[in-house]
Amino acid sequence: MNNTIKRNIGLIGFMGTGKTTVGRVLANELQREFIDTDVLIEMRAGKTIAEIFSEDGEEDFRRMESAVVREVCNYEASVISFGGGVAISPLNVQMIRRSATLVLLKASAEVIASRVLLHKTRPLLDSSEGLTEQIRDLLRNREAVYQRVSDVVIETGTMGAGALALEVIRRLDL
Ligand code: S3P
Repeated sequence: MNNTIKRNIGLIGFMGTGKTTVGRVLANELQREFIDTDVLIEMRAGKTIAEIFSEDGEEDFRRMESAVVREVCNYEASVISFGGGVAISPLNVQMIRRSATLVLLKASAEVIASRVLLHKTRPLLDSSEGLTEQIRDLLRNREAVYQRVSDVVIETGTMGAGALALEVIRRLDL
């Protein structure tokens, strides 16, 4: 197996940009294992992300997230969907970049807001008011980091998960 084949494919980007949905389709297309770091964190903690935030706080969540990042970075040839805040930590970024080719999925604050409203499981966002504004603020803080650490950037626009998975395959020349 050459090095290109063994490298993981990592999906990064803001909440609600489709990392998990696209990742699952992509893994299926490529016959690779799919891993979602949020799911792994929930399994390890025995509770939901929302419960971790409310009972233990964000700092503990970030510690658990880094432990899971360290673990999945030892995998090979997998498709990994990383939580939207993973790139905040330079140590996470270092580990991830060593093990994966990173694809950034981008979407507008409006699209993100509509998706986040459908699944009210994001403790960092208060969906009761000014959701789009909160997303814009967080995006402003994170956009430069997302951009800097990624190998390929994909504007999701109106594309569905299947088309996006094919776009990843095309852009990574797989
Ligand atoms: C977070 C994103 C979430 C989850 C947690 C924190 C963030 O993952 O890890 O709620 O800081 O952006 P998704 O991007 O998969 O929603």
